[in-house]
Parts: sequence; structure tokens; C-alpha cells
Amino acid sequence: MRPKALITRKLLPEAHAFLDRHLDVEIGAAGRDLTREELIFKIRDKEGLLSLLVDTVDREVMEAAPRLKIIANCAVGYNNIDTAWAAERGIMVTNTPGVLTDSTADLTWALILTAARRLPQADRYTRQGRFSGWALDLFLGRDITGKCLGIVGMGRIGRAVALRAQAFRMETLYFDPHPLDPEEERSFNAAYASFEKLLARADIVTLHTSLTEASFHLIGARELTRMKKTAILINVSRGPVVDEKALVRALKGGEIWAAGLDVFEWEPRIEPGLLELENVVLLPHIGSASFETRLAMASTAACNLVAGLSGEAPPNLVKLPELNDLKLDDSRVESAVAARRKG
Ligand code: DGY
Repeated sequence: MRPKALITRKLLPEAHAFLDRHLDVEIGAAGRDLTREELIFKIRDKEGLLSLLVDTVDREVMEAAPRLKIIANCAVGYNNIDTAWAAERGIMVTNTPGVLTDSTADLTWALILTAARRLPQADRYTRQGRFSGWALDLFLGRDITGKCLGIVGMGRIGRAVALRAQAFRMETLYFDPHPLDPEEERSFNAAYASFEKLLARADIVTLHTSLTEASFHLIGARELTRMKKTAILINVSRGPVVDEKALVRALKGGEIWAAGLDVFEWEPRIEPGLLELENVVLLPHIGSASFETRLAMASTAACNLVAGLSGEAPPNLVKLPELNDLKLDDSRVESAVAARRKG
């Protein structure tokens, strides 16, 4: 008998063809996300789950599935899964790293340029038939070239963002609990900076950290006041990394100049204050949304699921370090950097 798996929502057809060859698959609700009750009901006899980042897979869900062996998340982030409880129960968790790096870095740059040059406002103005002729001061934005970019979280996506910054001849600073070694820093033309220094110096602060207890509201009222009044904040990581209410106040009060958001604190609900502001660009979590990348994500998740249910080691098994260990703590990181540089 083939292993039984639940796919919470229909994937792209190529991924289903592969899954159907190996597993006995049930697909969640048609054209919508499963409710929590439906997920708990449907998972009870399954050995595998292919989840999306909108599916909360917590202790209660896992408890409902005594035969569950693997949760294959179709995303690089896995904050929707209680990984500690999965580890406790011996359930494997996998993600889809690598395949979405470039498309997410591209979208980051699209957001940076869009926010800096006020493209949505200018587009609306043009469509409304209000363009009555060139003017020296029409829609003045901010230059990117030669400015200082601050990357928070220098994993795969942060690095891909840094590579692209070289084309704009930017000074790139980064902050990460695991600093790069000096050779890597040279290759990305990036210098480590404390979180405080990065906030104070960067013209653009872009967030690429995973969501953990340590990174929850990493950017709040205090941090926003540390930033330049001309700064732009970009978030393509996870919504709760930014305190949205504080961001609304900062954007309204001129604490920072603009923001570009692809993710939201209470997704898909959006803080109403954000919707009223002109100096924020809002996108519906499309960082990885290209045909090529979404297919690669679905295929990667499908391969992980099939491998895990065939008794093989899934290629993208999430190692479960104590995530809360990765505190974004300047002094700890700085002493680690100093020790590495000495040694
Ligand atoms: C991810 O994979 O975590 C992204 O947010 C999907 O776009």
C-alpha cells in the first residue's frame, strides 16, 4: 500500500503528477485554504503532510495524526510549524531553500526602487489623466546609487540582495548572528555592522531574517527612531518582524521616509493605517511568485515528501537548532566576530 499524504492546497500540475506516482494523495479544499478543523480531521490517517506557509501546523494538529512522519513545507520559512514539537515527536520537517533565493532578491530590489522612486503614486497620477507636462519637481524620489544599504539577516536571500547592490555601487552593511568570514565579506562587498550602527547609517534597511522569538518586532518604535529620516524600510521576510502600528506612526510622523512591504503582521489582514499612507508600497506576499520559482518550490516540497515517506533522508531536512539561541544580540555577535578575526 502506498503511503497516504495530505496536500493542503492544490499545487502546480507537474508536482501532482510526481506525487501521484508515489503516494496516495488527498488534496485539501478546492481553491481555498483548509480551516483548522478540516486540517485536523483530514490529517488523522496520514503519514505525510505537504503544507503551505498559511497552514498552522502546531502541537494539536500533530497530535491528531499519530502516523505522521513528515511535514514538507512548501516555503523556505517554517515559522508556521511547531518544529520543537515535531522534533519531540520524531516528525521530520523540510523546507524549500535555495530555489527562491533569486526571485525573492529580485523582488526586494523591485520594492526598493519602487518605494524610492514613488512609482505607485506616479502610476496612479498618470492613469488619472493628471499628467499635464514635465515639471522639475514632479514626483521627486530618492537615489539609490552610491547610498548605504543595510541588510538584516545575511542568509541566502540577504547575500543575493548584496550581490545586486554592487550594480548600484552601494556601501553594504549587514547584521547577522552568524557573521560571514572576511573572504565572504569581500565577495559580497559587505561589511558587518552592529544592529544599532546599521540602523543609524543605512539609507535602506532591508529585512531578511527568519521569524523567531528573537526577531519578533525586531523593528519597533525604538528602532524606527534610530533610522535616518530619509531612510526606506523594506520587509520581504515575515510580517511580525516589524511592529506595524509603530511603522504607521513612523511613516506618518516622518521618522522614516518610506517603506516597502511584501509581508504583514496579521497576514492577510493589513494594518488599516498602512492602507491610508502614500509613502508605503504594499504587495501581497509575492516575493517568490514567478512561474519558475513557484514550480521549483512545489517540486522541491514534493521530492522532500516522497523521500521522507520512502525511508530516504529528505534533501531539505530542517535541522532544529535551538532557534531562540540565535538572539540578535549585538554584543554576542561582536565578540564572535572579534574572536574569529583574531583567530
Ligand atoms: C517562503 O518561502 O518562506 C516565502 O515567504 C514564500 O514566498
